[in-house]
Amino acid sequence: MSQRQMHLGVYAVGSGNHIAGWRYPGATTSGENLEAFKQIAASCERGKLDFLFVGDSLAFLPGGHPGQVTRFEPTTLLSALSCTTTHVGLIGTASTTYSEPFSVARQFASLDHLSGGRAGWNVVTSTLPEAAENFGREMVDHDHRYEIAAEFVDVVQGLWDSWEDGARIENKETGQYYDLSKVHELGHKGQFYSVKGPLNITRTPQGRPVIVQAGSSPSGQALAGRIAEVVFTVQLELDVAREYYDNIKRYAVAAGRRPEHCNILPGMVPIVGRTDEEAQAKLAQLMTYVDSTSAMQTMSRRFGHDMSQYPLDGPVPDLPVSNLKQGYSTVASAKAKRLGYTLRDIYNEIAIARGYLLACGSPTTVADIMQEWFEGGALDGFVLLPAHFPEAFDDFIDLVIPELQKRGLFRKDYQGTTLREHLGLPKPENRFARARSEAQGDK
Ligand SMILES: Cc1cc2nc3c(=O)[nH]c(=O)nc-3n(C[C@H](O)[C@H](O)[C@H](O)COP(=O)(O)O)c2cc1C
Repeated sequence: MSQRQMHLGVYAVGSGNHIAGWRYPGATTSGENLEAFKQIAASCERGKLDFLFVGDSLAFLPGGHPGQVTRFEPTTLLSALSCTTTHVGLIGTASTTYSEPFSVARQFASLDHLSGGRAGWNVVTSTLPEAAENFGREMVDHDHRYEIAAEFVDVVQGLWDSWEDGARIENKETGQYYDLSKVHELGHKGQFYSVKGPLNITRTPQGRPVIVQAGSSPSGQALAGRIAEVVFTVQLELDVAREYYDNIKRYAVAAGRRPEHCNILPGMVPIVGRTDEEAQAKLAQLMTYVDSTSAMQTMSRRFGHDMSQYPLDGPVPDLPVSNLKQGYSTVASAKAKRLGYTLRDIYNEIAIARGYLLACGSPTTVADIMQEWFEGGALDGFVLLPAHFPEAFDDFIDLVIPELQKRGLFRKDYQGTTLREHLGLPKPENRFARARSEAQGDK
């Protein structure tokens, strides 16, 4: 049997994932720099990564993480990158709270066509109250956002099925352009949406773009288990991560899915040097750039509460359940309790790694950490969050990837061209084609 291998993608942020990474010598500084993203995408393909991921939010938030202050709209950026790449998957974020299913279905179907089958949609419910104000809406409650999201995704997937393969015929001889028996109305009338369909774009190379999701709260996990083909998460301790992993896989199985079709990828910040000492020196240098206001804001966003009201040298407070975000607070509080951390310890970790797992050291040290978590049954791979670009990412690609390949833990070359192929996901069956063949079988 061939060895199980990791899936790896990068969280591409023009100004770096570290709060002050953009200040590192030689680092790109802006999230509105196409050349920088083209370079990140090229490094992904050099390292044979599964995907490049672009996050999003829908409000201007001064003073926080620079990567979240200004940025390109993800599907627009990924469409540009589809022209400069041939293999790497292109995953973008779109909100189920502030979009319409028809538009989202169309955007990602377009990206899937443009990229030859490399599109993925990161389904988010949006946590910022400021975003609600940009859409003239009230902030929707946390669990209610997930109920809306569940129906939203069902509609989008239904629309992606509304055209069967081979429905566009383009027969110059006969003049037949479509086979309309293979184009279907969806006729969806649900609790939140009413969508007739069909979509005005044909079935895409992947059948359906890949669904990605990141909720870690109980309702987020349930949705992830039901719909997500890739799950992003924050995990800080191996045994907690293992529990989370088992839980999501259980949800997936309960929803009638195969567990290996739901890839769980925690975020990891790699800081790589040729030696452990060199990596530690890079980390120390990064920390000299951190300004306390932006670190405090980032911590408050992670917890979904204003954390500046609590003493930094006291324990991590018991917090009421947030209406904004829940997953991180649970993971960080558990770690703090177990290790006797003060709030300042958590604050420092967030400044270093935005609250994600940190792997700092030589290529062997970083690969050892990744291998331990992977073989420890806690994950199917990682979303890499390099502190800055291009150097910190290229260090990973050029130093750690060969080490993982040597250990048989990561592919030496792409085996396919679509994101589904990279992730080991089958092309989904079209519900209308299946219904037809079942009806014919019944005859
Ligand atoms: C790796 C990763 C990437 C994420 N990217 C985004 C994003 O781009 N936009 C967004 O609004 N939320 C993003 N999130 C947040 C999640 O979608 C979710 O809102 C958050 O984890 C809180 O959900 P919970 O209350 O279910 O834990 C991301 C989370 C993780 C772990």
